[in-house]
Amino acid sequence: MSAPVSDAASGRLAPADVRAMFDRIAPRYDLMNRLMTAGRDRAWRRAAAAAADLAAGDRALDCCTGTGDLAFDLADRTPGGEVVGIDFSERMIARADEKAGDRPGLRFEVGDVMNLDHPDDAFDAATVAFGIRNVVDLDGGLHEMARVVRPGGRVVVLEITVPAHLQRFYGVWFDRLVPRLGALLGRDADAYRYLPASVRRFPAPPELAARLAGAGLGDVRWRTFAGGIVALHHGRVRP
Ligand SMILES: C[S@@+](CC[C@H](N)C(=O)[O-])C[C@H]1O[C@@H](n2cnc3c(N)ncnc32)[C@H](O)[C@@H]1O
Repeated sequence: MSAPVSDAASGRLAPADVRAMFDRIAPRYDLMNRLMTAGRDRAWRRAAAAAADLAAGDRALDCCTGTGDLAFDLADRTPGGEVVGIDFSERMIARADEKAGDRPGLRFEVGDVMNLDHPDDAFDAATVAFGIRNVVDLDGGLHEMARVVRPGGRVVVLEITVPAHLQRFYGVWFDRLVPRLGALLGRDADAYRYLPASVRRFPAPPELAARLAGAGLGDVRWRTFAGGIVALHHGRVRP
Protein backbone atom coordinates (compact mmCIF):
# COMPACT_ATOMS: atom_id res chain seq x y z
CA MET A 1 0.00 0.00 0.00
CA SER A 2 1.39 3.47 -0.85
CA ALA A 3 1.70 6.14 1.87
CA PRO A 4 -1.05 8.81 1.92
CA VAL A 5 -0.04 11.88 -0.10
CA SER A 6 -0.03 15.28 1.64
CA ASP A 7 -0.91 18.39 -0.32
CA ALA A 8 -2.36 21.37 1.60
CA ALA A 9 -3.54 23.16 -1.54
CA SER A 10 -5.70 20.18 -2.60
CA GLY A 11 -7.13 19.70 0.91
CA ARG A 12 -5.49 16.28 1.30
CA LEU A 13 -3.15 15.71 4.20
CA ALA A 14 -1.90 12.49 5.78
CA PRO A 15 -3.08 12.05 9.43
CA ALA A 16 0.39 12.86 10.83
CA ASP A 17 0.41 16.15 8.88
CA VAL A 18 -3.13 17.04 10.03
CA ARG A 19 -2.03 16.44 13.63
CA ALA A 20 1.13 18.50 13.20
CA MET A 21 -0.83 21.34 11.61
CA PHE A 22 -3.32 21.51 14.52
CA ASP A 23 -0.48 21.26 17.03
CA ARG A 24 1.06 24.34 15.34
CA ILE A 25 -2.09 26.46 15.27
CA ALA A 26 -3.44 25.40 18.72
CA PRO A 27 -2.37 28.59 20.56
CA ARG A 28 -4.27 30.83 18.12
CA TYR A 29 -7.10 28.44 17.18
CA ASP A 30 -9.89 30.01 19.28
CA LEU A 31 -9.07 33.54 18.12
CA MET A 32 -9.04 32.45 14.45
CA ASN A 33 -12.42 30.77 14.91
CA ARG A 34 -14.01 33.89 16.36
CA LEU A 35 -12.54 36.11 13.62
CA MET A 36 -13.38 33.83 10.69
CA THR A 37 -17.01 33.39 11.77
CA ALA A 38 -17.61 36.84 13.32
CA GLY A 39 -18.28 35.00 16.58
CA ARG A 40 -21.14 32.87 15.14
CA ASP A 41 -19.29 29.59 15.74
CA ARG A 42 -20.43 29.61 19.38
CA ALA A 43 -24.12 29.62 18.47
CA TRP A 44 -23.59 26.83 15.90
CA ARG A 45 -21.89 24.64 18.51
CA ARG A 46 -24.69 25.32 21.00
CA ALA A 47 -27.17 24.14 18.34
CA ALA A 48 -25.05 21.00 17.85
CA ALA A 49 -25.11 20.34 21.61
CA ALA A 50 -28.91 20.71 21.60
CA ALA A 51 -29.16 18.28 18.66
CA ALA A 52 -27.37 15.62 20.73
CA ASP A 53 -30.65 15.36 22.69
CA LEU A 54 -29.01 14.72 26.06
CA ALA A 55 -30.40 14.78 29.59
CA ALA A 56 -28.94 15.17 33.07
CA GLY A 57 -26.72 12.21 33.96
CA ASP A 58 -26.01 11.24 30.32
CA ARG A 59 -22.58 10.43 28.85
CA ALA A 60 -21.39 12.11 25.66
CA LEU A 61 -18.30 11.90 23.49
CA ASP A 62 -17.04 14.91 21.54
CA CYS A 63 -14.73 13.75 18.75
CA CYS A 64 -12.04 15.99 17.21
CA THR A 65 -12.77 18.22 20.20
CA GLY A 66 -9.88 20.62 19.56
CA THR A 67 -9.83 23.17 22.36
CA GLY A 68 -13.06 21.67 23.71
CA ASP A 69 -15.74 24.28 22.99
CA LEU A 70 -18.47 21.79 21.99
CA ALA A 71 -17.55 19.53 24.91
CA PHE A 72 -18.21 22.47 27.28
CA ASP A 73 -21.65 23.00 25.69
CA LEU A 74 -22.41 19.27 26.08
CA ALA A 75 -21.35 19.39 29.74
CA ASP A 76 -23.80 22.28 30.33
CA ARG A 77 -26.56 19.89 29.20
CA THR A 78 -25.51 16.84 31.25
CA PRO A 79 -25.26 17.85 34.92
CA GLY A 80 -24.24 14.80 36.94
CA GLY A 81 -23.15 13.02 33.75
CA GLU A 82 -19.86 12.76 31.92
CA VAL A 83 -18.47 14.33 28.76
CA VAL A 84 -15.27 13.06 27.18
CA GLY A 85 -13.52 15.15 24.52
CA ILE A 86 -10.96 13.41 22.31
CA ASP A 87 -8.50 14.76 19.78
CA PHE A 88 -5.25 13.44 18.34
CA SER A 89 -3.48 16.81 18.69
CA GLU A 90 -1.79 16.91 22.10
CA ARG A 91 -1.51 20.70 21.99
CA MET A 92 -5.24 21.14 21.28
CA ILE A 93 -6.01 18.81 24.21
CA ALA A 94 -3.61 20.77 26.43
CA ARG A 95 -5.53 23.99 25.61
CA ALA A 96 -8.85 22.23 26.33
CA ASP A 97 -7.49 20.98 29.69
CA GLU A 98 -6.34 24.49 30.58
CA LYS A 99 -9.79 25.92 29.79
CA ALA A 100 -11.57 23.17 31.78
CA GLY A 101 -9.55 23.61 34.98
CA ASP A 102 -11.25 21.51 37.68
CA ARG A 103 -14.67 21.48 36.08
CA PRO A 104 -16.42 18.23 37.15
CA GLY A 105 -17.98 15.84 34.61
CA LEU A 106 -15.64 16.83 31.78
CA ARG A 107 -12.37 15.26 30.72
CA PHE A 108 -10.16 15.38 27.67
CA GLU A 109 -8.15 12.54 26.12
CA VAL A 110 -5.62 12.26 23.33
CA GLY A 111 -7.16 9.77 20.89
CA ASP A 112 -7.94 9.01 17.27
CA VAL A 113 -11.53 9.00 16.05
CA MET A 114 -10.57 6.23 13.61
CA ASN A 115 -9.84 3.93 16.53
CA LEU A 116 -11.71 5.03 19.65
CA ASP A 117 -10.53 3.57 22.91
CA HIS A 118 -14.09 3.08 24.22
CA PRO A 119 -16.39 0.03 24.20
CA ASP A 120 -19.53 -0.35 22.06
CA ASP A 121 -22.65 1.54 23.28
CA ALA A 122 -20.63 3.47 25.92
CA PHE A 123 -22.24 6.88 25.25
CA ASP A 124 -25.69 8.40 24.87
CA ALA A 125 -24.43 10.62 22.03
CA ALA A 126 -21.31 11.39 20.00
CA THR A 127 -20.65 14.73 18.33
CA VAL A 128 -18.08 16.28 16.02
CA ALA A 129 -17.77 19.98 15.10
CA PHE A 130 -15.63 21.15 12.18
CA GLY A 131 -13.57 18.00 12.60
CA ILE A 132 -14.83 15.10 10.48
CA ARG A 133 -13.70 16.92 7.29
CA ASN A 134 -10.13 16.42 8.50
CA VAL A 135 -10.50 12.71 9.18
CA VAL A 136 -8.87 10.88 6.32
CA ASP A 137 -11.52 8.12 6.15
CA LEU A 138 -14.91 9.83 6.59
CA ASP A 139 -16.94 6.59 6.59
CA GLY A 140 -14.52 4.90 8.99
CA GLY A 141 -14.80 7.85 11.40
CA LEU A 142 -18.62 7.91 11.25
CA HIS A 143 -18.83 4.13 11.82
CA GLU A 144 -16.55 4.45 14.85
CA MET A 145 -18.71 7.26 16.31
CA ALA A 146 -21.88 5.18 15.78
CA ARG A 147 -20.23 2.12 17.35
CA VAL A 148 -19.66 3.80 20.73
CA VAL A 149 -23.21 5.21 20.97
CA ARG A 150 -26.03 3.08 22.38
CA PRO A 151 -28.95 2.19 20.08
CA GLY A 152 -31.33 5.15 19.93
CA GLY A 153 -28.59 7.65 20.86
CA ARG A 154 -27.62 10.49 18.56
CA VAL A 155 -24.60 11.10 16.35
CA VAL A 156 -24.24 14.81 15.47
CA VAL A 157 -22.02 16.36 12.79
CA LEU A 158 -21.47 20.12 12.44
CA GLU A 159 -19.45 21.05 9.37
CA ILE A 160 -18.73 23.80 6.85
CA THR A 161 -20.24 23.37 3.37
CA VAL A 162 -20.11 25.21 0.04
CA PRO A 163 -23.64 26.06 -1.13
CA ALA A 164 -23.92 26.43 -4.93
CA HIS A 165 -25.20 30.04 -4.74
CA LEU A 166 -22.22 31.15 -2.63
CA GLN A 167 -19.41 29.84 -4.84
CA ARG A 168 -18.30 33.40 -5.68
CA PHE A 169 -18.35 34.52 -2.05
CA TYR A 170 -16.23 31.47 -1.20
CA GLY A 171 -13.73 32.36 -3.88
CA VAL A 172 -13.06 35.72 -2.21
CA TRP A 173 -13.54 34.99 1.48
CA PHE A 174 -12.22 31.48 1.85
CA ASP A 175 -9.67 31.16 -0.93
CA ARG A 176 -8.10 34.63 -0.59
CA LEU A 177 -8.85 36.32 2.75
CA VAL A 178 -8.72 33.32 5.11
CA PRO A 179 -5.23 32.17 4.01
CA ARG A 180 -3.99 35.77 4.39
CA LEU A 181 -5.55 36.09 7.84
CA GLY A 182 -3.97 32.76 8.76
CA ALA A 183 -0.57 33.89 7.52
CA LEU A 184 -0.89 37.15 9.43
CA LEU A 185 -2.13 35.78 12.76
CA GLY A 186 -0.88 32.23 12.83
CA ARG A 187 2.14 32.61 10.60
CA ASP A 188 0.85 29.42 8.99
CA ALA A 189 -0.53 30.13 5.53
CA ASP A 190 -0.47 26.41 4.62
CA ALA A 191 -2.99 25.56 7.32
CA TYR A 192 -5.39 28.20 6.03
CA ARG A 193 -4.86 27.13 2.40
CA TYR A 194 -5.75 23.59 3.45
CA LEU A 195 -8.99 24.80 5.10
CA PRO A 196 -10.86 26.03 1.97
CA ALA A 197 -9.57 23.13 -0.13
CA SER A 198 -10.75 20.58 2.44
CA VAL A 199 -14.18 22.27 2.56
CA ARG A 200 -14.54 21.97 -1.22
CA ARG A 201 -13.72 18.26 -1.07
CA PHE A 202 -16.27 17.55 1.64
CA PRO A 203 -19.66 16.03 0.61
CA ALA A 204 -22.67 18.35 0.26
CA PRO A 205 -25.47 17.91 2.87
CA PRO A 206 -27.57 15.31 0.99
CA GLU A 207 -24.53 13.12 0.39
CA LEU A 208 -23.32 13.49 3.98
CA ALA A 209 -26.81 12.42 5.12
CA ALA A 210 -26.47 9.29 2.97
CA ARG A 211 -23.03 8.55 4.46
CA LEU A 212 -24.50 8.88 7.99
CA ALA A 213 -27.21 6.40 7.03
CA GLY A 214 -24.48 4.11 5.69
CA ALA A 215 -22.76 4.29 9.09
CA GLY A 216 -25.82 2.78 10.79
CA LEU A 217 -27.92 5.85 11.60
CA GLY A 218 -31.65 6.22 11.07
CA ASP A 219 -33.91 9.28 11.13
CA VAL A 220 -31.09 11.36 9.61
CA ARG A 221 -31.91 15.07 9.31
CA TRP A 222 -30.01 18.28 8.66
CA ARG A 223 -30.39 22.02 8.75
CA THR A 224 -28.08 24.79 7.64
CA PHE A 225 -26.97 28.10 9.17
CA ALA A 226 -25.62 31.41 7.86
CA GLY A 227 -27.16 31.13 4.40
CA GLY A 228 -26.03 27.54 3.97
CA ILE A 229 -22.33 27.74 4.82
CA VAL A 230 -22.61 25.52 7.90
CA ALA A 231 -24.61 22.28 8.06
CA LEU A 232 -25.78 20.44 11.18
CA HIS A 233 -26.63 16.75 10.63
CA HIS A 234 -27.90 14.26 13.16
CA GLY A 235 -29.24 10.73 13.25
CA ARG A 236 -30.04 7.97 15.74
CA VAL A 237 -28.09 4.74 16.04
CA ARG A 238 -30.30 1.97 14.65
CA PRO A 239 -30.93 -0.95 17.03
C1 LIG B 1 -10.99 22.37 12.94
S1 LIG B 1 -10.61 21.57 14.44
C2 LIG B 1 -12.15 21.51 15.27
C3 LIG B 1 -12.04 21.59 16.75
C4 LIG B 1 -13.34 21.72 17.54
N1 LIG B 1 -14.20 20.56 17.38
C5 LIG B 1 -14.09 22.95 17.23
O1 LIG B 1 -15.32 22.90 17.11
O2 LIG B 1 -13.48 24.02 17.16
C6 LIG B 1 -10.38 19.91 13.91
C7 LIG B 1 -9.77 19.01 14.95
O3 LIG B 1 -9.87 17.66 14.50
C8 LIG B 1 -8.75 16.97 15.01
N2 LIG B 1 -8.62 15.71 14.28
C9 LIG B 1 -8.47 15.54 12.95
N3 LIG B 1 -8.41 14.23 12.63
C10 LIG B 1 -8.55 13.56 13.80
C11 LIG B 1 -8.57 12.17 14.15
N4 LIG B 1 -8.43 11.22 13.21
N5 LIG B 1 -8.75 11.84 15.44
C12 LIG B 1 -8.87 12.79 16.40
N6 LIG B 1 -8.83 14.12 16.15
C13 LIG B 1 -8.68 14.49 14.86
C14 LIG B 1 -7.61 17.96 14.84
O4 LIG B 1 -6.50 17.66 15.65
C15 LIG B 1 -8.30 19.27 15.23
O5 LIG B 1 -8.12 19.59 16.57
